[in-house]
Amino acid sequence: MSNNALVRVKDLVKYYGEVKALDGVSFEVYSGEIYGLLGPNGAGKTTTLKIIAGMLKPTQGHVEVMGISPIHNPTEVKRIIGYVPEEISLYESLSIIEFLEFIASVRKLSPSVWTYVFTLMRSFDILKYSRTPIGALSYGTKQKVAIIAALMHKPKILILDEPLRGLDAKSAKILKELMNLHIQSGGAIILSTHIMDLAEHLCTRVGIIHKGKIIAEGSISDLKRLADAPQGTLEEIFLELIREREEVAHIIETIKRGLSE
Ligand SMILES: Nc1ncnc2c1ncn2[C@@H]1O[C@H](COP(=O)(O)OP(=O)(O)OP(=O)(O)O)[C@@H](O)[C@H]1O
Ligand SMILES: [Mg+2]
Repeated sequence: MSNNALVRVKDLVKYYGEVKALDGVSFEVYSGEIYGLLGPNGAGKTTTLKIIAGMLKPTQGHVEVMGISPIHNPTEVKRIIGYVPEEISLYESLSIIEFLEFIASVRKLSPSVWTYVFTLMRSFDILKYSRTPIGALSYGTKQKVAIIAALMHKPKILILDEPLRGLDAKSAKILKELMNLHIQSGGAIILSTHIMDLAEHLCTRVGIIHKGKIIAEGSISDLKRLADAPQGTLEEIFLELIREREEVAHIIETIKRGLSE
């Protein structure tokens, strides 16, 4: 692995019981990158992100987040990253302000953080819900609270699992702007998405994950070349790469069967 990656993932394998969710996932993410993990349902995106965020131990493999292992030192990694999980679980009985106060106290943030928090709340148009219990908020509003909670300590690395889910068009645009500002200031983002358009227009690099393996990786133009589809959309490339891989797997199976007959 090279030395200046902010996040390094090497040969991750994860079994849930008998289910092999990850089958040797490796990639690196550098300062200034928005790395998109793109893949169908069940491909292993959430599993990969949970492992990087120190929420889940892999069966095998190595991870470093700014030189720290989330496998051996999850608390330290949680301190330095911002993570928006797939299933957001916030304290439903607290108001937005009470919840963010709680996060600020856990993270030992100085009171000056509130200027930034209120700017974010205003941008996402949720100041009007400041005193509303989280349990009474819509899904999209909860997602905005989870995003603010992940951003408020200004982490260098953001791990975002389907970050645009539930957001309306205006909020999605604001989040994309926030992501661009984040990487312009030297940070890095790893996100998962099903939204091809998001991957195509926002991510600086994409890893296509399928059945627990990264089957292709690169900038959008790299992937277009790889799939031999210079004019193709990412969606076409994605389908082409998956189809090719399945064809290869099918051919290998046929050969194996032929050999054993
Ligand atoms: N807690 C769990 N117990 C058992 N199997 C699991 C568990 N979590 C995930 N899996 C399995 O691991 C595989 C990868 O799941 P994962 O949630 O990482 O996929 P994903 O790419 O995030 O999918 P989606 O796009 O639907 O969010 C799937 O086969 C899934 O059924
Ligand atoms: Mg997922």
